[in-house]
Amino acid sequence: MNDQDTMQLRSIVEAHELIDRRIEQLFGVEDEALRAARAATRLHCMPAISISPAQGRHLQMLARAVGARNALEIGALAGYSAIWLARALPDDGRLISLEISEKHAQVARSSLSRAGLAERAEVRVGPACETLPTLTAEAPFDVVFIDADKREYPQYLEWALRLSRPGAYIVADNTVRRGLALAQELGDEASDATRGVWEYNRRAAHDPRLLSLAVPSDESGLDGFTISLVTTARAAKE
Ligand code: SAH
Ligand code: DHB
Ligand code: MG
Repeated sequence: MNDQDTMQLRSIVEAHELIDRRIEQLFGVEDEALRAARAATRLHCMPAISISPAQGRHLQMLARAVGARNALEIGALAGYSAIWLARALPDDGRLISLEISEKHAQVARSSLSRAGLAERAEVRVGPACETLPTLTAEAPFDVVFIDADKREYPQYLEWALRLSRPGAYIVADNTVRRGLALAQELGDEASDATRGVWEYNRRAAHDPRLLSLAVPSDESGLDGFTISLVTTARAAKE
């Protein structure tokens, strides 16, 4: 990329950020519990990679749209997205969030308690590929949010399909990646993360049980969700 391209891209990103701030101020206003969950990442020296408020609202709407009672998250961090998701559930609903780091799990639990959601949401510690197979008795889930190790996204998709009901939404974060994870032509320098997410998108796009779309949705407009509706094989794309 030459200097002119870089400047052009920067101004496009600035426009996306301005629009996203306005959307957030109108539609995705955070309350104290959400602000505290986001702030907890800084306070505990965790990466600042929670979803955006607008993405939180989007996730919440998808969960409500399917009347979700039973929700699954893979990758809790500080519990920010878990608060948005758990708030979409009825009082007797349940969110299970899988997290590899004991420290992150503790921070997420305290974020959820602060939001008054300790009863509704539970964080389980372990590598997701080991904890997912233990969830069969608690399935089916009505909504699954995938946001953990990008290299393992294809495995997460397999489990999400196994553990969800027809009519469920499977949503994955960071699947746009500046367009890098949306095309077969991955250069030699593509990371294992990008390769994992490309494979996820490829499967999500072609699996006859899924009706899927990647949607740029983060603050920069350069990253976003892949949203998949679980349907019966016959109905998916007709
Ligand atoms: N969903 C959160 C952000 C998640 S960041 C939010 O938007 O608020 C990704 C999280 O996945 C990190 O906390 C990381 O520790 C966790 N993670 C990484 N690899 C994992 C694995 N193999 N199994 C479970 N969790 C994992
Ligand atoms: C990373 C992970 C995320 O889930 C995210 O939203 C942004 C960045 C990362 O691992 O760098
Ligand atoms: Mg993410």
